[in-house]
Amino acid sequence: MNDLTNIIKERRSIRKFTSQLPDKSLIDQVIEAGIYAASGRGKQAPVVIAVTNKELRHRIMEENCAIGGWDKGFDPFYGAPVILLVIAPEEIPTSVYDGSLTLGNMMLKAHELGLGTCWIHRAKEEMEGALGDEILNKAGLSGKYIGIGHLALGYPDGEAAPIPPRKDNRVIYID
Ligand SMILES: Cc1cc2nc3c(=O)[nH]c(=O)nc-3n(C[C@H](O)[C@H](O)[C@H](O)COP(=O)(O)O)c2cc1C
Repeated sequence: MNDLTNIIKERRSIRKFTSQLPDKSLIDQVIEAGIYAASGRGKQAPVVIAVTNKELRHRIMEENCAIGGWDKGFDPFYGAPVILLVIAPEEIPTSVYDGSLTLGNMMLKAHELGLGTCWIHRAKEEMEGALGDEILNKAGLSGKYIGIGHLALGYPDGEAAPIPPRKDNRVIYID
């Protein structure tokens, strides 16, 4: 069943990917879901940078690994062939919220399409360094951008984890 509630409930963070690159049409559909997210004052400020270039993917991996303090050789993107980096202009006050919603939409759309994702953190620090400048340059962007987050994107390698039960006392009605 592919109704929205199931997609929301069954989506899981995937931490093992096959090396198969999804067709561009699938990647496009995931990104489209992201850029249709609501945004503060309708500014549509977040930008999605899809990295399929192996050399750049490797450098982002190394940078993320270093920022995270892991030993060299660990891949914080779990072998995913695509990295979707979401950035948003520094001057937009809702940038972090807008970008987070963009990432959330993309996670759900990817799951609907049979792809796996995992939100990978440390985009903020990454965009503050020299690699961030280089990424902006390669993307043809100027101005100041905050790194909001990445998605590791690809085909899951293995079965999805069961749905973790929700914690109690997280919903409060005030009637
Ligand atoms: C803001 C944010 C940052 C996250 N950063 C990472 C990360 O760097 N690496 C990782 O493996 N998972 C990361 N995750 C995934 C969470 O660990 C995951 O969503 C959580 O364990 C719940 O599992 P689920 O996504 O399968 O429901 C992040 C999730 C969010 C929302």
